[in-house]
Amino acid sequence: MESRRLGADGPQVPVIGMGTWQTFDVHDAAGVERSRAVVEKALEAGTRLFDSSPMYGAAERVLGELLEPHRDEVLVATKVWTPDDAEAERQIANALVWYGGRIDVYQVHNLVEWRRRLDRLERLRDDGSVGIIGATHWNPSAFDELEAVMRSGRIAEVQIPYNPVENEVERRILPLAADHGLGVVVMRPLGQGSLTRRPPGASALAPLAPFGVNTWAQALLKWVLSDPRCHVAIPATSRSERAVENAIAGDPPWFAEEERALVASLARGGG
Ligand SMILES: NC(=O)c1ccc[n+]([C@@H]2O[C@H](COP(=O)([O-])OP(=O)(O)OC[C@H]3O[C@@H](n4cnc5c(N)ncnc54)[C@H](OP(=O)(O)O)[C@@H]3O)[C@@H](O)[C@H]2O)c1
Repeated sequence: MESRRLGADGPQVPVIGMGTWQTFDVHDAAGVERSRAVVEKALEAGTRLFDSSPMYGAAERVLGELLEPHRDEVLVATKVWTPDDAEAERQIANALVWYGGRIDVYQVHNLVEWRRRLDRLERLRDDGSVGIIGATHWNPSAFDELEAVMRSGRIAEVQIPYNPVENEVERRILPLAADHGLGVVVMRPLGQGSLTRRPPGASALAPLAPFGVNTWAQALLKWVLSDPRCHVAIPATSRSERAVENAIAGDPPWFAEEERALVASLARGGG
């Protein structure tokens, strides 16, 4: 799998990471074992960055348990998400326990109370328990504020939604990230699964076969990563075979404009 540097200050990371929203929010032994199989297959396939948040129920704790035997091989991106200072301290203390005392990418989730949260994360970075600091938002209505944070010089990474249907970031966020040397992690590369429900037929995907694309999910992931301003896409899955399928999309060659236009047209229901 290709690796890219996650921004000027970031680590080198294989381009297919993994999200955990919903998929790892599991509450029984069977769910944990299913998630373990997903992590093990993802690791075998070369995936190295795993993203979570205290917003995702049990996912952040479960991910910590599953990554424990592999902690030195992986990068953990998680988040702090609360307007309350005492709760922020609890979230941070939990995450540091679950992830062996180190968070590689610590993000302010949905920009909640971002100035105060960045103050805290900066101290943790100076102490060496945080690698780089970032910020996330899923909603274009918050992108003016996200831009202000990006221009502040206080973050090294942003996590934003990007797929052929949700492409608002092309206007200002991706150019700004490139100008400031920020790492870009892409959430919702499959549109929260909405884009994969009605895949185009095999003949529509045939022109993409020379790019190593055999499935519609791979086409969507390769569409994202063919924009060099994007460093890591973090599709979520509860199925181990899909962790492998998705990782294959992290191998070059990358699409040119022609193939990106084809995928965008197919995603919008065109032929
Ligand atoms: N959504 C948000 O608002 C948000 C916000 C902040 C951060 N994030 C982060 O970004 C990550 C990714 O976003 P997301 O989880 O919302 O959406 P996503 O990754 O775009 O889509 C996940 C969905 O796609 C399906 N899927 C995965 N691989 C597939 C494949 N090869 N073929 C067909 N279907 C496939 C999964 O179903 P199966 O489980 O059945 O495979 C799941 O329902 C999150 O997990 C989280 O870590 C998300």
